[in-house]
Amino acid sequence: MAVRLGDTAPDFTAPTTQGEISFHEWLGDSWGVLFSHPKDFTPVCTTELGYVAKIKPEFDKRNVKVIGLSVDPVDSHVTWEEDIAETQGTPVNFPMIGDPERTVADLYDMIHPNANDTLTVRSVFVIGPDKKVKLTITYPASTGRNFDEILRVIDSLQLTAQYKVATPANWTDGDDVIIGAAVTDDEAKQLFPQGWTTVKPYLRTLPQPNKA
Ligand code: BEZ
Repeated sequence: MAVRLGDTAPDFTAPTTQGEISFHEWLGDSWGVLFSHPKDFTPVCTTELGYVAKIKPEFDKRNVKVIGLSVDPVDSHVTWEEDIAETQGTPVNFPMIGDPERTVADLYDMIHPNANDTLTVRSVFVIGPDKKVKLTITYPASTGRNFDEILRVIDSLQLTAQYKVATPANWTDGDDVIIGAAVTDDEAKQLFPQGWTTVKPYLRTLPQPNKA
């Protein structure tokens, strides 16, 4: 069964490169990114894990824990991580789930049989501190993910969790935002006393509230 936005992220206990993890307990009050890759010792995955390791401080800054998964066992991940450190210039500094029985992969519907009936696709789940799924993205095996985009979405999710705003196309942290469609002008006056620009009655913009 597919995991959808707003669902509680399925909990599990699994072996990882940093020891056994009970997922919800490990997340604690943090945000989480759970991402799968198809197979160990493959080129695109090697670059992805190296890149995530490099930008881990950006996840830390946002109170986000990252965890990877493939259907290979932990001892394979550990050996592969030596190659990643050597070729990508940084050790893998987050846990990688070993899932040879596909327990977690099945729980999160990460195997799409019409794409490949044994390997996981490139899934990404962003999970909030309430353990609800906030974002799902699925990429094919042949396309490495843009993890800067994942950070950008997390910035939007964290902002919109705090303020009744939405973020426009291609928004990045610091750009103007949009007043949520459900917010009336009267409510907006209370929420945003600094004012806003009405482009259309349904399109009201204002500087990002926590930057102004
Ligand atoms: C890769 O990571 O390069 C890859 C993995 C599985 C299938 C195709 C490419």
